[in-house]
This record gives sequence, C-alpha cells and structure tokens, in this order.
Amino acid sequence: MSKDTSVLLEEDRVFKPHYTIVEEAHIKNWEAEIEKGKDHEKYWEEKARMFDWFKKWDMVLDESNKPFYKWFVNGKTNMTHNAVDRWIETDKRNQVAILYVNERGEERKLTYYELHREVNRTANVLKRLGIRKGDAVAMYLPMCPELVISMLACAKIGAVHSVIYSGLSVGALVERLNDAKAKIIITADGTYRRGKVIKLKPIVDEAILQCPTIETTVVVKHTDIEIEMSDISGREMLFDKLIEGEDDECETEEMDAEDPLFILYTSGSTGKPKGVLHTTGGYMVGVASTLQMTFDIHNGDLWWCTADIGWITGHSYVVYGPLLLGTTTLLYEGAPDYPDPGVWWSIVERYGVTKFYTAPTAIRHLMRFGDKHPRKYNLKSLKILGTVGEPTNPEAWIWYYKNIGRERCPIIDTWWQTETGMHLIAPLPVTPLKPGSVTKPLPGIEADIVDENGKPVPLGKGGFLVIKKPWPAMFRTLFNDEERYINVYWKQIPGGVYTAGDMARKDEDGYIWIQGRSDDVLNIAGHRIGTAEVESVFVAHPAVAEAAVIGKEDPIKGEVIKAFLILKKGHQLNAALIEELKRHLRHELGPVAVIGEMVQVEQLPKTRSGKIMRRILRAREEGRDPGDTSTLEE
Ligand code: WT7
Repeated sequence: MSKDTSVLLEEDRVFKPHYTIVEEAHIKNWEAEIEKGKDHEKYWEEKARMFDWFKKWDMVLDESNKPFYKWFVNGKTNMTHNAVDRWIETDKRNQVAILYVNERGEERKLTYYELHREVNRTANVLKRLGIRKGDAVAMYLPMCPELVISMLACAKIGAVHSVIYSGLSVGALVERLNDAKAKIIITADGTYRRGKVIKLKPIVDEAILQCPTIETTVVVKHTDIEIEMSDISGREMLFDKLIEGEDDECETEEMDAEDPLFILYTSGSTGKPKGVLHTTGGYMVGVASTLQMTFDIHNGDLWWCTADIGWITGHSYVVYGPLLLGTTTLLYEGAPDYPDPGVWWSIVERYGVTKFYTAPTAIRHLMRFGDKHPRKYNLKSLKILGTVGEPTNPEAWIWYYKNIGRERCPIIDTWWQTETGMHLIAPLPVTPLKPGSVTKPLPGIEADIVDENGKPVPLGKGGFLVIKKPWPAMFRTLFNDEERYINVYWKQIPGGVYTAGDMARKDEDGYIWIQGRSDDVLNIAGHRIGTAEVESVFVAHPAVAEAAVIGKEDPIKGEVIKAFLILKKGHQLNAALIEELKRHLRHELGPVAVIGEMVQVEQLPKTRSGKIMRRILRAREEGRDPGDTSTLEE
C-alpha cells in the first residue's frame, strides 16, 4: 500500500463523449494521436505547415544551448499576417473576427477585413510615433477591440507588446513599465464594471511620473465619461485622432521565428513579478494547434473564452489562437454575475456560442446561485466546454456538465501556465473524462510525475509534475532575469526537465490529477495531501461554497489542516457543522486528514485571475511577509 493518502480521494465516474461530438471531431482516435505525437519534432513540424512562412525553417528544434531552446530555426513569418491578413484572401474576408459585447448589452463587430484595416492603421500610427522592431509597447486597456488591434499592430511591425491587466494598480504598472522599458502606453478613459465606469487613465497618469521610458500615452475613448487630458508635454494623444486618415496599408515586418512577440508578467511567490517572454514562430504553432485539438474548432464556430486578455489565457485563447484558426472570438467586458448571474448564459443564447471556456472559480461562484439562472436559457448551441486555472473540483465539474452542457458537452480541463504559453495536459473532445482529472498530456507533449531526484513515482502517489521535452509555445526566458529562468524552472529536478511547480498524481489509467502548487501542498505526519483534494472534499459538502486550506504547524503531526470556508446561504459554522464536516472529511480522505481548525469567512484572497492565494493565508497565519501581492484582488 502506498503511504500517500491522496489516492483516497476516489473519483471513479467516467464520462464517454456524446456521439454528436465524436461524429464531428477532427481527431477521432485519442490514443492513436498520442502515439503519433511521440515523434514530437515531426508532429509539431506538421502543425507548422498550416501557416504561411516567408522562409521555411532549417531545423525544427535546436537543443544545442539548453535550456534556451529554439523552434523553427531561421524560419521567417509574421503573426499578424497569419492571424488576420491571410484571411482577407479567403472566404473568411467578411466573416466576423471579433464580436465585442459588454454588460450594457452593447455590441461591436469587426470582420477580418475591418480588423485588417484597423490593425494596419494602428501599426502606421505606432511607426509614426517612433516605434521600431524590438521596441516595447504597453497596453493598459479593458476588454475592447482596440486592445486586440493594438496587440496585432505591434506584431505586424515587430514591436513587443506588454499587456498589463487593467485591474492592477499604480505600483504594479510602474514596475512592469520600467522592467520592459516601454516607450508607449495605450490606455482608455475607463472600463465598465457592474454598472459603473472605473477610470483607468488617472492610474496611468500617476504611474508614468515614475516611468522615464514612456514617451507617449495613447488614450482610447471607450466609455461615456469625460477624459481629463493631463497633458503638459504634448505627448498625450487620442487613439481616434491618431488613426484618423491614416493609411490602411502597412508593410508586414518579416520576423524570425525566435523574435520576441510579447512579455507578460506573472506574479512570483517571492520578489518581483516574472516577465515571461514568448517568441513568434513556436508560439503561433503551439497556441493554434492546441486550440484546434482541444476544442475541435470548425468553420462556423463561435468561440468564447471568458478570460481577460491581460492574462495568458486571453493572449493565447481570446486573441491569437482563435484568429489564427480564422474563427470568431467573443470579447466580453463585464462580470459573470452582473446584472444577474444568468448574464453569461443569456449571451450564449443570444449569439449561439458553440465553444465556451472559463475558470473553476467562476463556475463555483455561479453554482452558488443555483440552476435557476442557466435554466432560463436555451443553451443548445453549446458543443464543448472548458476550464483552466485551478483544479476543477468534481462537484463543480458535475454542475457545469449538467446545467450548462446539459450532459452533451465534454468538459475540457486544460492544464497549462503563463510559461507554457499553450495547453499541455488536457483531454480531446473524444477522450473519456473523469471529473477533476486533466487526463493525459496532449499529443506531442511528454510529461511525468517524479520525486525530487527525477525518478517517476509509483501510480497513485503524489509527486512533482515535470515536462520532459520542449514544446513550441514554451517561454524562452524571463525578461531581464536569465538566472531566475534557469534556477526556477530547469534546476529544481535533475534530468534537464521543466519543473512546473505543481504536484500531481497519476491513477491506474494513467490519468493525471493536479493536486496544487508544490509550495501549497500539505504534509501531515509525513503524508502528502494536495490542497486541491482537501478543498474538493469540502466543496462537495452541501453547506460549503468555497474552501481554501493551508497547513498549520502542529507539535505532534508536523502539520494539520486549517480550513477557510465560505458557506452557502443559510449556513453557519457552529459546533454541529464543524463535527459534521470533520466526519465528512474523515470519511472521504481517511484519518490522516486531520483538521486543526476551521473558520468561516466571507471572502478568500484570490488573484485577479481567480486563483486562491494560499500563501497569503499562510503568511497571515504565521505573521510573515506575504511576498509579491501585486495581483491580489482587492
Ligand atoms: C498554474 C499556472 C494557464 C492559464 C491560467 C493560469 C494552475 C492551471 C490548471 C488546471 C489544475 C491548473 C497550476 C499552474 N492551473 N490550469 N486545469 N488544473 N491547475 O496561468 O497564472 O500561469 O498559472 O495554474 O497550478 O501551475 P498561470
């Protein structure tokens, strides 16, 4: 018997794909595709052929300077050419590329042709403002077409974009602008949120006082508030004014496959945020082909990924992936529960969304309001659902599957990271699913679960998740911090593998279960338990809406569990419920799941992308400094 207790969380339901999904699927045989992917260079090279290259690569993968890998060596291409311009020559020319919708019910549609023109005009403006290949341009914008247009305009002329999520504040902005040495910042007057307008420009005005590299602020007039131009230097300009009368033809910059495409900052548990650098060719091949595999994109699909473009999910799967495949991508500006918790489903019904991708935190949140909201809408257009960001608790999975997917839609639980750029572990639509498991590495990806010496751990036992072979959309370094790149990701575990920083286990069918970040995992009397597993058991109890657990020092056990619980309406954490929850945990996880303390809370500290920040709970508990909190939701 394995000493590890995590195997005690048994989730043995298996969901086979609905026949309509199998009928339509591009890839019908999952196992055979995985087999094909074992020749991984050949596999990804084949995927690269779906794009236009100005010059073909000499070599698929250069491993001569590990861990600085190169993909599609000496290949020349351009992201915007492939995501936008090439569609103009096809029957997608007048198809909607971007469908923008906001919480006020307003919409804006841009066809591929219109997008192409707007991107060219914006690219010309950037050039006129002095931007050249390799220069950094920052964006601090809400979910709006101008954000996508600006990113694509950068890619068109070889500028490197650095998108900063519009919910971050002055300090975070200053740090990111200075690290990237951005020359221009593109912002907006404000953003719509829950019936109000949140001003953005004053935050930029304050930040750039401390950012000497910023030469110009470009302001998009997005809402109906008055813009206060704070211009003293003549370096503040309105986006609309700038593009007015601008030429709608723009030369495409020929980019090397390894030329930088963007920097995106992600918070580290200590120290300053990490500037994750992605390049052109491999990223293009990786995001488009994974989206094609995982969500089986077809002509006529309406794709909706609810992530903000300020995160990697938005970069890869709101902007680049869908446009590279010539599909229609829905951009929604608003909260999931405003004006009411049925708003997302009303949009699915109104536009006929076919593929829908969101985060477990949103599902858990909407679950609390019950099934009466989704029941009001016709969700028949939906074919495939997905999740990303955290482990999907089986309870939330089932709710999503029944109430949104109406037991017809597979749930594609995609494991990946800002650093990986693309999905790495996820099912395909035809894969038999187990709620809570991310199933197996995608075709072309080799992952394993190992101990600290790099030895594979036995089935059922928890260990470190590693990626054993390079993949095309992998980040190439941490901007301005090569040492950290090497030490954090490539040195932790011997064998030259990529250390993801997550713990996971494999079950008897080889299915992978993510247990949580390795610095979050609990160690109780020598037993390792994933935070995800304990939290899922809590969430499965009818009184609990959300849970976060941390380890708390204990003189006897080493560590015991401290749980922070958000209860459903009408429940109170009294002695009777505490006893009942303890019994429930013991029953599901066994006697090792020792609860030291339970507290009822109204909120949990989360990142703005919805992940529970357990290290903040831990730091608070131990009276320590919580480290970088720039992405903490207020
Ligand atoms: C971390 C990466 C990748 C886009 C969003 C987050 C966790 C991500 C899953 C999943 C369990 C997941 C991991 C990972 N994570 N997807 N499907 N199941 N955990 O990007 O902010 O870079 O975070 O998110 O812990 O390491 P990110």
